[in-house]
Amino acid sequence: MSDLPKKYLICSVSELIEKGLAFRFQVELDGKRKPAFILKYESQYFAYLNECAHIPVEMDWQPGDFLDIDKTTILCAMHGAAYLPDTGLCVRGPCKGARLKKIPIYEQEMQLVTDLPVFPDE
Ligand code: FES
Repeated sequence: MSDLPKKYLICSVSELIEKGLAFRFQVELDGKRKPAFILKYESQYFAYLNECAHIPVEMDWQPGDFLDIDKTTILCAMHGAAYLPDTGLCVRGPCKGARLKKIPIYEQEMQLVTDLPVFPDE
C-alpha cells in the first residue's frame, strides 16, 4: 500500500486554453464542498476557490469567464475586485490587498490534480 497522498483529478490540460475560459469544479475544504476554478495563464495553471475576498460569492461573469477584457486580471462580476491570476492578490477594488484562496495543484501526465477531494461543478 502506498503512503503517497491520494490525488484527485480536476481536468486534463487539454481542456484549458491560454487565458480562455476556466474549468469549474467543486472541492471539499474543511468538510464543505465549495466552488472552484482552474485557469491557464502565461503557460501555467492556477486554481482558486470561486469565492470573492470581498463577499463570498462566485465571481465569474458567465460560467468559467473570469478574466477582464485585457486578460490581465481575474475580475469579480459583483463589484469589480481585480485579482492577479498568478498569486490571487487583489490589486484593485473593495478588497484590495486581500487574496483568493489558492488550491494546490500538480500536473501529472497531462492531467491537473490536487490533494483535495474534487467533485463536478453543479
Ligand atoms: S463581491 Fe466581489 S468585489 Fe464585491
